[in-house]
Amino acid sequence: MFELNTVINGAVPEAMKVVPDGIVDLIVTSPPYNVDLGNNKYNKTPYSLYKDNKEHFEYIAWLKMVFEECYRVLKSGGRVVINIGDGKNGSVPTGSDITQFMKDLNYIPYTHIIWEKSQVGSRTSWGSFNSPSSPSFPTPFEHILVFCKDSKKLLETGKTDLKGDEFIEWSLALWRFAPEIRMKEFGHPAMFPEELPKRCIKMLSYIGAVVMDPFAGAGTTLVVAKALKRNYIGFEISSKYVDIINERLKDEPSFWDDWSDEQIDIIDEVEKKEISFWD
Ligand SMILES: C[S@@+](CC[C@H](N)C(=O)[O-])C[C@H]1O[C@@H](n2cnc3c(N)ncnc32)[C@H](O)[C@@H]1O
Repeated sequence: MFELNTVINGAVPEAMKVVPDGIVDLIVTSPPYNVDLGNNKYNKTPYSLYKDNKEHFEYIAWLKMVFEECYRVLKSGGRVVINIGDGKNGSVPTGSDITQFMKDLNYIPYTHIIWEKSQVGSRTSWGSFNSPSSPSFPTPFEHILVFCKDSKKLLETGKTDLKGDEFIEWSLALWRFAPEIRMKEFGHPAMFPEELPKRCIKMLSYIGAVVMDPFAGAGTTLVVAKALKRNYIGFEISSKYVDIINERLKDEPSFWDDWSDEQIDIIDEVEKKEISFWD
């Protein structure tokens, strides 16, 4: 029998076959960016196992198979969040290619958030400096693409932990926060910061939801899901990273036991405002 709150060491999409149909509320993930991690000039640390240098068409076809399998395991009304960056200063439009195949897979586009990483790398690649011949446009932002299955409105009700000021700030589709700075400490070369899954999980799911990450990496989505009283399912191809995830999950304090049902009810009543902007 399939158990929630586990991390599976395996390669998606095949490894996802064990997940029953229609049990996942929210997927928050960041696939490898196919930027030859380890060999590009911005990041000299490769993944422990995965080779990040497929042909672009092969990479997109592979991701499409993964998100087709995600569609199967999502509930009707479930959501998918994909954090991705484009390649080569925007000339490899990975985000647009993903949006295209997600539509082909019957997902409904929900929103597109720009994550401004508050960080510009050293400006040495100018292309043609001071000339319109072939200037470069470095991209200090990434995409956070949100899709849903069947319905933009959640088809189940639940309790929320979203606060009013969080809703107001996060519902603007321009997010500014710094990238993860603890990658050496965790031993993973391409993590997103906890702020990213925190916002997605609180904005897009109720307490107790099932949150999945098919490309778990160092487990940031899973750790945050646990801390926010959601169930989690993770997949990661590298056993080295799975060990890191399990350590992190063990260490990460879970707030679950600290919150009484009464507290959750209060949050529910005070903070949950049904604003139906799709109607
Ligand atoms: C960008 S990282 C994810 C980082 C994660 N968001 C975090 O904050 O820790 C992508 C991960 O996908 C993993 N990966 C690559 N191919 C995979 C596959 N077929 N199945 C599962 N994981 C895979 C890589 O090993 C890598 O850890």
